[in-house]
Amino acid sequence: MNYTGPKIVTPPPGPKAQELIEKDLAMLSPSLTRTAPLVGYKAEGVYVEDVDGNVFLDFGSGIGVTGVGHRHPKVIEAVKKQLDSLVFVNSLDYYTLPQVELAAMLFKVTPGDFPKRVFYSNSGSESIDTAIKCAKWHSRRAYGVGFINGFHGRTMGAVSFTTTNLTARRGFAPLYPIAQFTPYPYCYRCLFNREYPGCGLECLNYLTDVIFKKIIAPDETAFILLEPVQGAGGYIVPPQEFFTRLTDFAKEHGILLIADEVQTGYGRTGRMFASEHFGFEPDILTMSKAFANGFPAAATVARKDVMDWVDNAHEGTLNGGPVIMEAAKAVLRVIDEEKILENVREQADYFRAELEALQERHPIIGDVRGMGLMIGIEFVKDEKKTPAKKERDAFIQDAFSKGLLLMAAGESSLRLIPPMIINRQQIDTGLTIMEDCLKEI
Ligand SMILES: Cc1ncc(COP(=O)(O)O)c(C=O)c1O
Repeated sequence: MNYTGPKIVTPPPGPKAQELIEKDLAMLSPSLTRTAPLVGYKAEGVYVEDVDGNVFLDFGSGIGVTGVGHRHPKVIEAVKKQLDSLVFVNSLDYYTLPQVELAAMLFKVTPGDFPKRVFYSNSGSESIDTAIKCAKWHSRRAYGVGFINGFHGRTMGAVSFTTTNLTARRGFAPLYPIAQFTPYPYCYRCLFNREYPGCGLECLNYLTDVIFKKIIAPDETAFILLEPVQGAGGYIVPPQEFFTRLTDFAKEHGILLIADEVQTGYGRTGRMFASEHFGFEPDILTMSKAFANGFPAAATVARKDVMDWVDNAHEGTLNGGPVIMEAAKAVLRVIDEEKILENVREQADYFRAELEALQERHPIIGDVRGMGLMIGIEFVKDEKKTPAKKERDAFIQDAFSKGLLLMAAGESSLRLIPPMIINRQQIDTGLTIMEDCLKEI
C-alpha cells in the first residue's frame, strides 16, 4: 500500500461506492449521519482508500480513533499475536492477564497521583454511563450537571447529557430526569458578554450562583460532567480559571468531577489527557476512541475510593476482551516509543500557525482554536459572526472531492483531528486542498 498522497482516480463516489451506498441506505439504520460518500476499503497511516481506488488524506481519523495511524503495524502485530492464544474469557466471571497489565499502564498515564481503579467497556457512551453510575452509587446523591454543547454519546445515560443539538434528544424523553445544564466557556460566542463587560467567568457564576443556589442543592448533586475541551460542540478550550474554580467548588461541596476524555484523550492535545494542561485532576475519567486505535474499547478510571461499588452493581459480558486489551497496550507503547506526544506538539504548532495565516487571507474563517492536533476552525459569514453553516458543509464536500477527509463540529466549525503520526508534508498537502476550497467558496 505505500501511499504517497491523496489520489482521485474517479470522481467520488465512484461506481462501486455508489452501488454500495444505495444498498446501505436501503438496509442500515437511517439514524446514521454520513459526512461524505466515502466507502472505506483499505487504509494505512494517514490515508484511506475507497472501493474505487481513490485515496484520501484523512484529517478526521474517524473522530480521533486511529490516533497512531490506520493499521499501525505494532497494534496489528499485538492483535494477531493475541488472536493465536486467547480471544475470549468473559471477564465478569473470570480473570485475564491483559486487563491487569493494561490497568497498571493506565494508572501511570492518567492524571492524579492517587490510587485508582478501572472499569473497561466497549464505547465512549458506555464509559460515560459507567462514570455516571459510579458517581451515583458512591455518593448516593441524585443530581448531575452537564454543559451546554457537550457531547457524551447516545446510550440513555450519555445522551441525557448530550446537548449539541436537539435531534440527539428529540423523541427520547424522558431522559435522565435530574440533569441540569450550564453554559460552557465558549469565549468566541460568550452567552453573557453582551450584558457583562469583560470575562468574570459569568458562565461559571451561573452554575454556582443560579443553578446551585436556586435550582438544585449542591449536597444533593453527585457529579459535574464535562469535556476538558469540547469536541462535537466545536473544539472549545476553556480558560485555566474555569478549571481552578470548578475544582474548588466541587471539592467544597463533595461533588465528583467527571472528565470525558473520549475525544481529547490519548495524546491528542499534546499531553496524554487534556486535563493535564490545566492541572485538572478529575475523580473519574473516561476514554475510548484512540484507546485501541479502531478496536471497540473504552475505560472509566476513577479514584479507588470512588469506584467502591459491590459485585454485580455494574458489569458487561464483552468488556475488556484480551484482543482489545492487547491492542490498547500496544497503543500506549507506540505513544511512548514513537514519541507521539512530541510529534503532536511540533506538528500542531506548525498547523495552527498555517491555519492562522489562512484565516488572514480568508475572512470566512472567524476563529482558529483548539489544543494540539485537535484544531477547530469556525466559519462565519460576516463581522457579526453569523454562522456560515452551508458554506462549511459545502467546504467539506469540496475537500472530499479533492481527496481530503474533513469533519464538522458545532454549528459552523470544522474539526481537524488527523492521525497523530502526521508529518509536515502531509499537513501542507491538506492545507493546499483547503485553500483551493476556500477560494471556491
Ligand atoms: C467527548 C465524547 N464523549 C463520548 C462520545 C461517545 O462515544 P461513542 O460514540 O464511542 O459512544 C463521543 C463520541 O464522539 C465523544 O466525542
